[in-house]
Amino acid sequence: MDCSWNFKGKCCIVTGAASGIGKQISILLAQSGAKVVLVDIDAENLISATNACKEVANVAPLSIVADVSKQQDVMRMVESTVAHFEKIDFLVTGAGILYRTQFLDIELAEWDEVMNTNIRGLFLCNQLVVAQMLKQGEGRIVNIASVAGRSMSLIGGAHYATSKHAVIGLTRHMARELCQQGIRVNAFCPGATSTPMIHDNLSAEQITDLKPRIPLGRLAEADEQARVIAFMLSDAASYLNGACIDSNGGSVML
Ligand SMILES: NC(=O)c1ccc[n+]([C@@H]2O[C@H](COP(=O)([O-])OP(=O)(O)OC[C@H]3O[C@@H](n4cnc5c(N)ncnc54)[C@H](O)[C@@H]3O)[C@@H](O)[C@H]2O)c1
Repeated sequence: MDCSWNFKGKCCIVTGAASGIGKQISILLAQSGAKVVLVDIDAENLISATNACKEVANVAPLSIVADVSKQQDVMRMVESTVAHFEKIDFLVTGAGILYRTQFLDIELAEWDEVMNTNIRGLFLCNQLVVAQMLKQGEGRIVNIASVAGRSMSLIGGAHYATSKHAVIGLTRHMARELCQQGIRVNAFCPGATSTPMIHDNLSAEQITDLKPRIPLGRLAEADEQARVIAFMLSDAASYLNGACIDSNGGSVML
């Protein structure tokens, strides 16, 4: 699809960039002229995502292997980005994990793992990146939440849904605190999207059963979600702040 965003010269950090939605927004940003920083814990897939960006980019992307739940890693992510590109204009937080475990079976270690990645990690990235954006006097952040944070999850467990509600709460609070200093913060809430997160957790039969429950009758493709995130980062969305943008094929009440 023809994409006419112009992000020339903008530096964007994308976490969870090795796969799925994070990979697609990285490619779209690179195509649109941005200086992309791909961040992921998965070093192997990060190489192929970075290579996909290189093929379409004018400016060579930077890739950083990091665990977003670790403060040292996130500090290194920010320092390396500023050392390389001198600034951070945009942050997209795509790093996330999902378990399907039923409520009573969730062990504390699994609860902590989900929270550490999906909300502690997202908080760390936001806090350290905002500190840099404040020095610049502007910035735009899209935190990837989920339809699970708007109601509940048909796929993930209670820990996943809880973490995604927390992403929306953090986003709204930051939006209120930071907008007068030039920083817009919004949450993106995808519905079921065809990525490894879905295909690793659901059988082909379970995916077939899921489709009729989505009004559009199909899963989203990751690049369809990336285009909405690009709009949220763009000048066209200049009045968007503290919003939760749903992109779920009409699954308003799951
Ligand atoms: N696919 C969906 O249906 C769907 C729906 C709603 C929300 N989401 C959310 O969208 C985001 C992207 O999901 P996706 O579907 O592209 O999943 P994905 O599994 O394809 O990609 C997630 C990426 O995050 C990385 N990651 C996981 N833990 C990390 C950590 N600690 N540090 C750094 N990177 C880490 C993974 O290695 C992976 O590359 C996630 O936050 C997910 O919860 C996805």
